[in-house]
Amino acid sequence: MTDLIADLNAPTAPVGTGTVRLGQPVSRVDGVAKVTGGARYAAEHPADGLVHGVVVNSTIARGRIVSIDTRKAREVPGVLAVLTHENRPRMRSLGFAFKDLTAPAGSPFKPLHDDRVRYSGQPVALVLAETFEAARAASRLVRVRYDERPHDTNLLASLRRAHRPRPLKFGYKPPPSEKGDARAAYGAAEVKMDAVYTAGVEHHNPMEMFASTVIRGEDGHLTIYDKNQSSINCRSYVSRVFGLKKSQVTVRNPYVGGAFGSGLRPQYQLPLAVMGTLYLGRSVRVVMTRQQMFTFGHRPETWQRVRLAADRDGTLRSIEHVAIAETSRMEDYTEVVVNWSGKLYACDNIRLGYRLVDLDQYTPIDMRAPGAVHGVHALEVAMDELAVELDMDPLELRLRNYTEYSPMEDLPYSSKELRACYTRGAERFGWAERPPRPRSMQDGHELVGWGMATGIWDAAQFYGRATAVLHTDGRLVVSSAASDIGTGTYTVMAQIAAATMGLPLENVIFQLGDSNLPLASVEGGSSHVATIGSAVEGACVELQQKLLRLARRLPGSPFEHLTLDQVEFADGHLRVPGSPERSMRLVDLLAAAGEQRLEASHTLVSNMLRKRKWALGTHSAVFCEVKVDEDLGTVRVTRVVSAVAAGRIMNLKTATSQISGGVVWGISGALHEETYSDHRLGRFMNHNLSEYHVPVNADIADIEVLFVDEEDRIASRLGAKGVGEIGIVGVSAAVCNAIYHATGRRIRSTPMTPDKVMRPW
Ligand code: MOS
Repeated sequence: MTDLIADLNAPTAPVGTGTVRLGQPVSRVDGVAKVTGGARYAAEHPADGLVHGVVVNSTIARGRIVSIDTRKAREVPGVLAVLTHENRPRMRSLGFAFKDLTAPAGSPFKPLHDDRVRYSGQPVALVLAETFEAARAASRLVRVRYDERPHDTNLLASLRRAHRPRPLKFGYKPPPSEKGDARAAYGAAEVKMDAVYTAGVEHHNPMEMFASTVIRGEDGHLTIYDKNQSSINCRSYVSRVFGLKKSQVTVRNPYVGGAFGSGLRPQYQLPLAVMGTLYLGRSVRVVMTRQQMFTFGHRPETWQRVRLAADRDGTLRSIEHVAIAETSRMEDYTEVVVNWSGKLYACDNIRLGYRLVDLDQYTPIDMRAPGAVHGVHALEVAMDELAVELDMDPLELRLRNYTEYSPMEDLPYSSKELRACYTRGAERFGWAERPPRPRSMQDGHELVGWGMATGIWDAAQFYGRATAVLHTDGRLVVSSAASDIGTGTYTVMAQIAAATMGLPLENVIFQLGDSNLPLASVEGGSSHVATIGSAVEGACVELQQKLLRLARRLPGSPFEHLTLDQVEFADGHLRVPGSPERSMRLVDLLAAAGEQRLEASHTLVSNMLRKRKWALGTHSAVFCEVKVDEDLGTVRVTRVVSAVAAGRIMNLKTATSQISGGVVWGISGALHEETYSDHRLGRFMNHNLSEYHVPVNADIADIEVLFVDEEDRIASRLGAKGVGEIGIVGVSAAVCNAIYHATGRRIRSTPMTPDKVMRPW
């Protein structure tokens, strides 16, 4: 077996030379557009007579708006209007109209709907002006008087209010609560651990700010460039909220500068920009400021307790994992936090619990590997703590309890090459050299520690449709209303189509990011390759069928009576393997058949039904080295090896980028990122990039990514599972475990900032 390891500095095949293979580390087809500024983001699309909108946000967390004085703002030259709940255009009132495709149970927030303030930072007014500068200056002059009510934004002080989440018909299901008798098994076990873990709030902070440019056509049609993870989702939201026909609205998101889950739901700048257009009858743009990027949803603060029990030899006897997370008063935002603890290790007694506390906050929203980032962190730190109790190597403890069966679901995995991840990852890292005792490695002034953890994530597949059109000039145009949030969708989809049709990559154009294209699900849950990629492959196979049918009908056809499995599509030809004379260029075939274009489509239905028979997932083993300065409390992650099993890899380069990006964020969550609230104000305080810390190059050292062999035709027809999220899962646990190995101290709260790491005096 050879591991797939991408050398990102190695030259990759230039786009367009010869036939492209699946797996090949092809560079991004949209790379040039991105680095030359040719790729336009939502706020960069021009429009005639564009009006600029600036949002005014609430300064209190809960209460009512008594009055809004907009007189001074309206006197600013260039200001056209100030919209508030009192004069905005008509919008629906029922919560149902505001439910987007990914809405959790409850009633969604309705921007500028009424006088109620539900969280600090809520939009309360929109200033519309001829210039951005005028709108911004005027926005400072809007005076809002509030009737303030007591608020609660403090999760840890409110744990006693925790309640069961309301389940959803589609989407979140409560975790199965118990297998065996976990409490009794815990009581009777020889070795045990019991600990509480807390994790702070994080905000997504993608490079591109949320923005909407609503371009109003002569006929009133709205073309909206919007930052989101599904143009279809946002079109349906706009048409329902404002009672517009779907045909009156087109939403486009051709380029998205990162989103990480924040764009799964429409954000408030979208309905506000539409309101501006409906009010003025003009094109309107609304862009959030970086500060406003902290006013619409976040990774929720979480409290978790894990109890593990084992025999002396390390055999797990009991797993108990309960979590309490925050949500808003409006909706029950639910993540899959604890379920992973019932899927990863062999164990007969498992108890899982998940509760929510309603706070005066905006509803939290999915952030890369939602739930697993906190849940698997707690489980994998707990496993390390148990290994310490057992005086056992932490990797050996994982292998002792290894299974390719999901105990809580009571199902076999469709594929689970986690053992190979452990073995290959440990080998690359040099884990065998690890001294068992903490505080046994030093580098000058710094203590050195090695830690490891397991990662697990879904192998999700949703629904989607793709259309492929072959033209007589040899171009293949493939389309789907998919998104590319920076993950490489353009590239990978073009690659799948090119590889399937045996065409050079340069001949293939993949179109996405337009609600008028064939239906696609949201780009989320690491599902796009398995979903849209499968639809693309399906459309191409359908196209092959049609081409072969044309070929068979040609006079004196060399392909008569042949079926698809007897021919191949390669180098732009249809040919019969082993008989070189039976070959024809696809463009000649179209011409000979008198066709200008040939079109085929495929609709893909989800792999959800297969989940009745199989457990599905991606896995990883993360190994890391830290250097800790106990006097300063600083931690440097000097080396990470992430070994990943995620099915068949479509493009080694973009997949490696996804995983290393996930590792960077895992390090960030472990050491840097947290949004702090001042609970007296009910407000996030460090709402800018100078105080909300994300890693810079100096914080990131060696990251090595390797993919073990895995191919899973149950997860998707391509054999792929998706790599968007697995890269981050388990990383913070590996860092925490390495800090323990370096210092002998266990830090049970993330991020592990210097104040927590510093040697106690
Ligand atoms: Mo991802 S958090 O499903 O966009």
